[in-house]
Amino acid sequence: MQIDLIKQQCEQVVRDFLTQLGAIHVDRLERKWITISMLVIGLFVGIITIDAFFHGVNPPSKVETIDSASLHLNKEFAEDNLGVQVDEKGNIIIRMVAGRYSFFPKHIAVPAETQLTFRWVSMDVLHGVHIPMTNMSTMIVPGYVAEITTTFPKPGDYPVLCNEYCGLGHNHMWSNISVIAKEDWTVPAKFPAKGATNNE
Ligand code: CUA
Repeated sequence: MQIDLIKQQCEQVVRDFLTQLGAIHVDRLERKWITISMLVIGLFVGIITIDAFFHGVNPPSKVETIDSASLHLNKEFAEDNLGVQVDEKGNIIIRMVAGRYSFFPKHIAVPAETQLTFRWVSMDVLHGVHIPMTNMSTMIVPGYVAEITTTFPKPGDYPVLCNEYCGLGHNHMWSNISVIAKEDWTVPAKFPAKGATNNE
């Protein structure tokens, strides 16, 4: 009995709603713009869907796997291999480790107006990295290497912030990157003595 009554009331509410909706006057121009905005949204969703399914476009993480528990034993992310390096083709590669609660190495210097490839890994839990004014914004998922190519437009100190909650110290997890003028930048002294990119 009670259920029938509720059902009837619900039906009445839906009927009223539809009647009211039908009675709303939508101007022709408004209708036109609603259609255009729906088409634009449809186009964007379509592009994302096609990229995701057919071109294999994924977030930058979750592509290359790594054992987060043994980073110190891993040649590429061993402690003295972190930071800025230049490979044999002249590409600048920066290897960084995120861990509660900092980014390591604590301080690096890179040239402005130069393409830089950052390779981020986590040594413990999920972190994020965000450098304002650049395209650097990604999750650093344990077990995966997040590789991002970026360019710093002008010299200065850029903050590096963790943007995924990673524990009580999350809001203290940040560091700095010094971006110096292209002509003043020199390859770090420890290169080419060490590095996974060298022939040893
Ligand atoms: Cu690391 Cu939040």
